[in-house]
Amino acid sequence: MENQEKKRILSMYQCTGTFTLGNYLGALRNHIKLQEEGYDCVYALADLHALTVRQVPAGLRKYTKEAYAWLLAMGLDLEKTVFFIQSQVPQHSQLAWILNCYTQFGELSRMTQFKDKSAKHADNINAGLFTYPCLMAADILLYQADYVPVGADQKQHVEIARDIAERFNGIYGGTFTVPEPMIPKHGARVMSLQNPLSKMSKSDENQNGNISVLDDPDTIMRKFKRAKTDSGSEVRFGEGKEGVNNLMGIYAAVTGKSYEEIEREFAGKGYGEFKPAVAEAVIAELRPIQERYRQIVADKAFLEETYRAQAPRAQAIAQRTLSRVMKKVGLVI
Ligand code: TYM
Repeated sequence: MENQEKKRILSMYQCTGTFTLGNYLGALRNHIKLQEEGYDCVYALADLHALTVRQVPAGLRKYTKEAYAWLLAMGLDLEKTVFFIQSQVPQHSQLAWILNCYTQFGELSRMTQFKDKSAKHADNINAGLFTYPCLMAADILLYQADYVPVGADQKQHVEIARDIAERFNGIYGGTFTVPEPMIPKHGARVMSLQNPLSKMSKSDENQNGNISVLDDPDTIMRKFKRAKTDSGSEVRFGEGKEGVNNLMGIYAAVTGKSYEEIEREFAGKGYGEFKPAVAEAVIAELRPIQERYRQIVADKAFLEETYRAQAPRAQAIAQRTLSRVMKKVGLVI
């Protein structure tokens, strides 16, 4: 384990499409803030994870570059934070193989994401989809991360990374920092606007359910106005009101208001006034980032130079852990 003064944070994002409002509120926005809170942050785009589902090659490359530009537009500061593309740091694949050999079939079979994705992609239940959590554990453990900030859907993956770390440390002595998940209070599970029982996701077939961070104001307004709510009209958080609960969660995450404050603000006003208010808050939040994004993404040379320069920074940290692991398990280094 490394003796770091600052606590290290690690998180990564798949780039299989444009980020959603769920990614933004559950993860990205909080991660950018953590840079200012005295953590040593390491972030990356998980393009190797993306291969577990069939991708259009040109699309994956395009979305990877766009996702990189989006995080820079949000204010990711490369003086403070290491931000790289996973496949440019080969240590991830190397450690993942080793960790595969310290992970049990039974524990991988219990992963909710594996069950969901294999049901959704029944024609392509590949080995990578099954061992996905080992690659994710490698991502985390290579950097000796203390905390892994994620949305609620990734908690189980952080827990298995902890189990793998503890198992390995138990056999070989202290090697890995055992990471803790960090889940936000609001926005940890943003649900589809069309089906508030399932999470908002890039791969949602109904695009009205998902707000992309690049949606224009009219689209955002239209999608919120059409959001599914229950038959009542009162803006109140409660059981059986998943649609309204979701909108309240989004509004709370964007404005910083509590549920009580929101209930007071919309007392007697109904969904007809609430939905456009949520849309306006989201539009105002995204607009300045979208403007910066357009400038950054247009400068292809700058983007390429930037992400290429980050890979060696990440490799230097990752190799320290990988060499130690290789030595411990008996590989010749
Ligand atoms: P991914 O790419 O699905 O999502 C990236 C981040 O966004 C969060 N998120 C959400 N939060 C709230 N509501 C939603 N609807 C929503 N959808 C997504 C996710 O929880 C995540 O924090 N396996 C990971 C990527 C990964 C990773 C890692 C994460 C690879 N290696 C190492 C942490 C550490 C994934 O597929 O996230």
